[in-house]
Order: sequence, then C-alpha cells, then structure tokens
Amino acid sequence: MKSKHPVFHSGSRKSITIFFNDEAVEAFEGQTVAAALVNSGRWLLGTSRSKNQPRGVFCTQGWCTNCYIHHQGEARVLACRMKSYDGMKVYSNQGDPAVPEDDND
Ligand code: FES
Repeated sequence: MKSKHPVFHSGSRKSITIFFNDEAVEAFEGQTVAAALVNSGRWLLGTSRSKNQPRGVFCTQGWCTNCYIHHQGEARVLACRMKSYDGMKVYSNQGDPAVPEDDND
C-alpha cells in the first residue's frame, strides 16, 4: 500500500519509471530515489563492506551516508539526495568505500 505522506505523494508531478537492480519502480519526476524506493517497499539499498550489514535510508538528509547506491557508472551516490528521472538506472551498493592506509604509522 502506498503512503499518503507528502514526501511520497505525487501532487501534480508526472509519473515515471526508474530501475533499481534492473527492476522497474514507479516514481514521480523529481522525487528522491530514496523516497521512490522506500515507497515501493525497497528498504535494503546495499550492504556494508566489513560486516556485510544491511544499509538503507536513515537520515534522509545526506548526512549519514547510509543510502549509497550506484547510478549509471557513478559509484556511491546518495539516494536521498538524487532526484528521479524517467528511465534512470540505479543499483544497490555492496561495500563501503575503501579506507586509505594511514601513512603516519
Ligand atoms: S539516508 Fe542518510 S545520507 Fe541518505
């Protein structure tokens, strides 16, 4: 069931289709990818590198970096900061960014 929350509601926006891991997802033009995915019941957006823990939408404001996804060759963009457009393809993120070696040892 779709939410009536204003973040998820269409208003007068155009209905579009985005693709998450090659699955079609209904969205509204300009809706964040995170909102479109959560509204479709897709809460799992990836896993962490070291412990393989689930990652998904948490802060919705670009602070926590928990919602990393891949967007058409671009690794690790934030789903909560990216706006949907028709036909866009995004993929789940497996693993956190590599941590550089500490040269000060
Ligand atoms: S949900 Fe926190 S940065 Fe996207």
